[in-house]
Amino acid sequence: MTPTLTNNPLATTIGDLALSSPLLNASGCFNAPLFDQLTPLRHCMGGIVTKTVTPQPRPGNWQGRTCELPGLGMLNSIGLQNPGLEVTLATDLPALAALGLPIILSLSAETPEAFGLMVETIEACPLATTAVAGYELNVSCPNVAQGGVDFGTNPALITAITQAVRNTTQKALWVKLTPNVASVLPMVEASMAGGASGVTAINTVLGAHIDIKTKKPMLSRTFGGYSGPGIRPIALYHVMQIHKAFPTVPIVAVGGIRTTEDVLMFLMAGASAVQVGTMAFPEPTVFERLAADLHVYCQSEGIHSLSEVRGIATQ
Ligand SMILES: Cc1cc2nc3c(=O)[nH]c(=O)nc-3n(C[C@H](O)[C@H](O)[C@H](O)COP(=O)(O)O)c2cc1C
Repeated sequence: MTPTLTNNPLATTIGDLALSSPLLNASGCFNAPLFDQLTPLRHCMGGIVTKTVTPQPRPGNWQGRTCELPGLGMLNSIGLQNPGLEVTLATDLPALAALGLPIILSLSAETPEAFGLMVETIEACPLATTAVAGYELNVSCPNVAQGGVDFGTNPALITAITQAVRNTTQKALWVKLTPNVASVLPMVEASMAGGASGVTAINTVLGAHIDIKTKKPMLSRTFGGYSGPGIRPIALYHVMQIHKAFPTVPIVAVGGIRTTEDVLMFLMAGASAVQVGTMAFPEPTVFERLAADLHVYCQSEGIHSLSEVRGIATQ
């Protein structure tokens, strides 16, 4: 059973959005064939984030698009493979809505206007009105040749995209930041100026790997997005920077999270919620373990709410 928000030490808010747990999956890391596995995890997750959806279907990049880096994480250049908005609304949304958890739709498009149009289409869908709690704007995927990283590194475009979506919805609106910039702070400012209710930090870090036997890059597109335990310190750095500069901006932290200690670190850095991506692949039930451990932590520390530790290490 999903816990209520009162007397629940794990309850959190991100702007106006109240969640029963700070634990969510990261976009692209719990997709359609795995939805059934989410059923028993309902009581410990605060919400579900979809794979990034684009207006039209995308086949993604060709093979050689993932590469495991044992102990460090993985590289991917999936290329936003997804069935497109129409199919997502017709098939994925009903399946996810049946779980009864707040749904965050991750969106990407090639222009601010196209972002706005997607949200107009979604808000006209009766099921979305109740089931979709908000949107995460993927302006930072480094794997798409057009759009992608340019949006995420350009404050004016970030404001334009956020504004285009905000003009169309009152729901929660998070901008997902790329770490592949000198500083994310102008991007945070630009997101909030456009009407975001929070930011998600961080997307994958640009990376590469070479097979010394074939003497060729492991990824068919040479470069990709690095994720998993190796990027945790980078994600923590960005979350701390954001919280220090903008203490009232709600942050959803993501990057290398696997253990309860990782979750607590990000909350103490200033995050209101966290997402688990790469480490949910080998352990899809990770959310169960983390939620149980967080309850034990609150009890042993005598705290009534995890919000008591939020940002404590960034003051
Ligand atoms: C296989 C894979 C697919 C991903 N797809 C998306 C995506 O569609 N949209 C998005 O915003 N991020 C995507 N990401 C990035 C993750 O959501 C997350 O930001 C990143 O992996 C860092 O978190 P982690 O270290 O916990 O994996 C993907 C990551 C992986 C590993």
